[in-house]
Amino acid sequence: MLNDIQTIKNLAGEEIEKADSLKSIQELKIKYLGKKGILTGKLKSLGSTPQEDRREYGRILNEAKICIEDLLSKHEAAFKTLELNKTLQTQRIDVTVPGYFIPAGHLHPTTQVLDEIISIFTSLGFNVEEGPEVELDFYNFEALNMPKDHPARDMQDTFYITEDIVLRTHTSSVQVRIMEKNAPPLRVIAPGKVYRCDADVTHIPMFHQLEGFMVDRDIKMSDLKGVLEVFIHTVFGPDTKLRFRPSFFPFTEPSAEIDISCVICKGAGCNVCKNTGWLEILGAGMINPRIFEMAGYDPDQYTGFAFGMGIERVTMLKYGIDDIRLFYENDIRFLGQF
Ligand code: PHE
Repeated sequence: MLNDIQTIKNLAGEEIEKADSLKSIQELKIKYLGKKGILTGKLKSLGSTPQEDRREYGRILNEAKICIEDLLSKHEAAFKTLELNKTLQTQRIDVTVPGYFIPAGHLHPTTQVLDEIISIFTSLGFNVEEGPEVELDFYNFEALNMPKDHPARDMQDTFYITEDIVLRTHTSSVQVRIMEKNAPPLRVIAPGKVYRCDADVTHIPMFHQLEGFMVDRDIKMSDLKGVLEVFIHTVFGPDTKLRFRPSFFPFTEPSAEIDISCVICKGAGCNVCKNTGWLEILGAGMINPRIFEMAGYDPDQYTGFAFGMGIERVTMLKYGIDDIRLFYENDIRFLGQF
């Protein structure tokens, strides 16, 4: 047994010295020390050697193992250094080559315009509030002076969830929710998604609106005009003209639709404004006293104005986009322009 071990050790030593590559060193490692290796075999057979020799054999076997391991790792390290030097000499990394371009995304055009509009109104002292998109019929209609049989409900193609729950058709639903919980004075804007069952070049089933309202003693139509003027002049430029056209909403009295002078032809007449020189941009009015009654405010003490606008519509006017559906087709060529 002792002779055997010595022979194995010598043989391994010779073979390792002769090895000419990292690969052959790795093969020798397996040959001697692997699971089925020669030395491993000896170590396994230790159990069947006579009790009195076992200790001595074990010690010598371990010595041989350590010796072979040392030799192997020495040669392995040497070959690795050799290989590394070779690659360092033959391969070069050009650190001046430009990297790959990773295209970065950006905010959606409606988000950009919405952010701009929000910052205009917050700079005028308006607070931002939000309401639910799945809304009670009460807040979307009833509390806004539109009982179940009111013809004005037909103006909006409503998605009904149940008889009493709808997808809100406008952000005006936030008005009574905020007034119920807060006492005047109030200066609030409420941006968010709204839903109508309608689809063509100027209508999509989901779009964004921004509601604004102000309630205090002595709020007048001229306050509405002043606030809207600041807003329009900031978004469309200081030369943009405003026109208040009489209109009707059940929750405002009097009501108006506001037009701006055509952003394309500046009022001269073109196909965007259908030769009228004007573009409709939002609905507004003085809050109907009946809304205050719903909210528990005294209509003899308080007055207020409200307005509501479509964000996609404002974006279309700002950038001269003629099809609202482009916003949600996710065509990178369209979105990339903003
Ligand atoms: N809610 C109205 C709409 O969706 C807009 C509006 C808001 C009109 C506030 C007047 C006052 O068309």
